[in-house]
Amino acid sequence: MDNKYVTAFAPASIGNLAVGFDMLGLAIEGAGDRVSVRKVSEKGVSIKEIYDLNGDPHPDLSKNSNENTASIAAQALWQSQNRQDGLEMLIYKGIPLQSGMGSSAASAVAGAVAANALLDIPLPIKELMPYALEGEKFASGGIHADNVAPSLVGGMVFCPPVYLPMITSIKVPKNISSVLVHPELIVNTAESRNGLAKNYSMSQWLEQQSYLAGFLLGLQNNDLGLIKSSMHDVIIEPQRASSVVCFNDIKSSAIEMGVLGCSLSGSGPSIFALCENNIASDVKTMMMEIFNSNNIDSQGWVSSLDAPGAYVES
Ligand code: HSE
Repeated sequence: MDNKYVTAFAPASIGNLAVGFDMLGLAIEGAGDRVSVRKVSEKGVSIKEIYDLNGDPHPDLSKNSNENTASIAAQALWQSQNRQDGLEMLIYKGIPLQSGMGSSAASAVAGAVAANALLDIPLPIKELMPYALEGEKFASGGIHADNVAPSLVGGMVFCPPVYLPMITSIKVPKNISSVLVHPELIVNTAESRNGLAKNYSMSQWLEQQSYLAGFLLGLQNNDLGLIKSSMHDVIIEPQRASSVVCFNDIKSSAIEMGVLGCSLSGSGPSIFALCENNIASDVKTMMMEIFNSNNIDSQGWVSSLDAPGAYVES
């Protein structure tokens, strides 16, 4: 049996993008998870080791393959092919846990992409959605693809639950960057989702769908004014803002600097902004300085809106 490891990389991502709760996501450059797999004769998927950001065995993640998004995704793909052999897996976490950067989704995507590369005839990348979603479902307790989809195919993606596993890439302007800053805080996505109100008013619904449509049309027409008028979340952000120290200060400062919009990345604690390329680096510095002045360490990334999705490295 050919038992060479194959390694896949899957990027971090920004979920919701302010206006599209559970239906819009954006890949970023520079942060991501890696998963290596090799074929073994025993059926099933076993996790040999999970490494943290420093290359040490991960202190918080279980090696039980029924409890990890990467192994669940790989197992779902492997089973769909009626394989009689199995996989051994190594996971390299490059994305902090509970960061709002799509950490569980990136592991699921990297697990599916690495396992796919070992099939005799690998599936086209978009066809891996259902398997990666199986992994993400374990972590977040619901089916939402706004981290899995951009991590898989890159760029900005429209992926509402009603259309899954179908996803649609969105054409993005070249003169806009994303800024993502992750403070050393944690927010549990499943708990955050459980805490959201279940009923909303007609006026909230009308306002939010106007903003979603305006945002998508603004991107399509490269109309920065329309994008800026549209990047408002009147439904979810107000319920989550208080869970992230400094969010309100950072958002006000970002708006003063002229960003197109600023909100929580997924359920937070990471914060993102979309802005014209020429101010992106300054916006990142501002966000990190505000966290720093509150004694919170942070890391930041500036990316183009067409950041690549997952790929096989070796
Ligand atoms: N759409 C999800 C949420 C993303 O906001 O709960 C989680 O990263």
